[in-house]
Amino acid sequence: MSARKKKKGGTFITGVDIGTSRICVVVAEMTDDGIDVLSITSTPSAGMRKGVVVNMEEASVAIREALSAAREESGVAVREAILSLSGSHIETKTESASVAVKGRTISQEDLDNVIDAAGSMPVPSGREIIHVLPVDFIVDGGMGIKDPLGMHASRLEAKVNIITAGSEPLRRLVISCEKSGLQAADFAVQSIASAESTLTAEEREMGTALVDIGAGTTDIALFREGWLLRSAVLAIGGNHFSNDLCVGLGVPFQEAERIKKQYGTLSGAFGPAEAGDDQIDVVNLYGGVKKISGRQACEILRLRGEELLELIKGEIARFEGRDSITGVVFTGGCVLMPSFERLAETMLAMPVRIGRPDLLPKHIYQSAPALPFATGIKEEFNGPEYAAVIGLILYGAGSMAETGGPGSEGLFNRMTGFLSNFMGKKR
Ligand SMILES: Nc1ncnc2c1ncn2[C@@H]1O[C@H](COP(=O)(O)OP(=O)(O)O)[C@@H](O)[C@H]1O
Ligand SMILES: [Mg+2]
Repeated sequence: MSARKKKKGGTFITGVDIGTSRICVVVAEMTDDGIDVLSITSTPSAGMRKGVVVNMEEASVAIREALSAAREESGVAVREAILSLSGSHIETKTESASVAVKGRTISQEDLDNVIDAAGSMPVPSGREIIHVLPVDFIVDGGMGIKDPLGMHASRLEAKVNIITAGSEPLRRLVISCEKSGLQAADFAVQSIASAESTLTAEEREMGTALVDIGAGTTDIALFREGWLLRSAVLAIGGNHFSNDLCVGLGVPFQEAERIKKQYGTLSGAFGPAEAGDDQIDVVNLYGGVKKISGRQACEILRLRGEELLELIKGEIARFEGRDSITGVVFTGGCVLMPSFERLAETMLAMPVRIGRPDLLPKHIYQSAPALPFATGIKEEFNGPEYAAVIGLILYGAGSMAETGGPGSEGLFNRMTGFLSNFMGKKR
């Protein structure tokens, strides 16, 4: 499997984050010393729109290229990976179930059983369960119990959030991967993956929204008291900023992307590297060169930024009012735009920060507290645009620590067995 020598007891673990604009791959090895990151690569994506595969042929070519870049860098031929999921087909609903404990002390088996029971509620046809996440345990009618293990009780009840994905978008993703020789070992929705690598335990406890703004989607996850309470996907992202520039300035998309990344700010002010001049040379739709106003470009970006932040604010408020959230952590490539943080803080009227996966050694996945990163993440990969893919590794490491490794049966057989089995234990 690998051109590299495996270290003692090491197991490879790979995360593939197939975004609307980029595919990021992290190849890591879990050893007795911790997680060793062998490579982090990023290549252009294709055949994707708003977080879902719309052209399987194009997507599979892009995935193959991403895997070959990862192989070149790590020496590992990746055949199986944990995949990120996004798109507005992802939904959350709450279910509950109870089991009789009959006056015994509550065991891990009782917890597994009650979560399994809540997670076995029928889902509508055309949907697949991705995560079953407990949000509350109720012991003999007493709510808000976080860790019921060892308590005496006659009845244990669990409230769980079930995150489902549309079978069809999921099938298209899986087939695109299989066409390029990649098996899906597991899935994590993007906001959960990004939270995995960036949120501190305290932030999860106090109430924090994780918001990942990519090219085609904005993925939101709300945490409080350590639980994931809600997740949502808005079909808006960085592409909308670029499209606004296309329309507003009459430039092709690629030029709009370049202007956005090179000159864009959200402060409303224009301060180009070449200083002083408000005029930027751009290639117009017919291949000629024209001048546009940098200030006008930044104003267009700021307006879109305000609009998107207004939607994010609404999405956070939809959940029990915004009082339950004390701050927002932003990830994804779009938040690299200068002044993003300042605009977000003003619009949301609460503390915000950019989530960088450099907190990893301190705040790793809760289920696997004994797994520090044996090697650090290189500075260039400490950006918010790598939060999701690095989170996939942590997520996978947590699962493996619990189950001894991803299963090898067919994916859809595992959807209810393998996935709900170990997903259910995650918080
Ligand atoms: N320096 C930058 N300034 C502004 N936008 C950026 C910058 N770098 C990346 N982006 C934007 O971030 C988006 C890509 O983010 P990413 O999280 O990689 O998306 P995805 O996972 O959806 O492919 C694109 O819209 C891109 O234009
Ligand atoms: Mg992304």
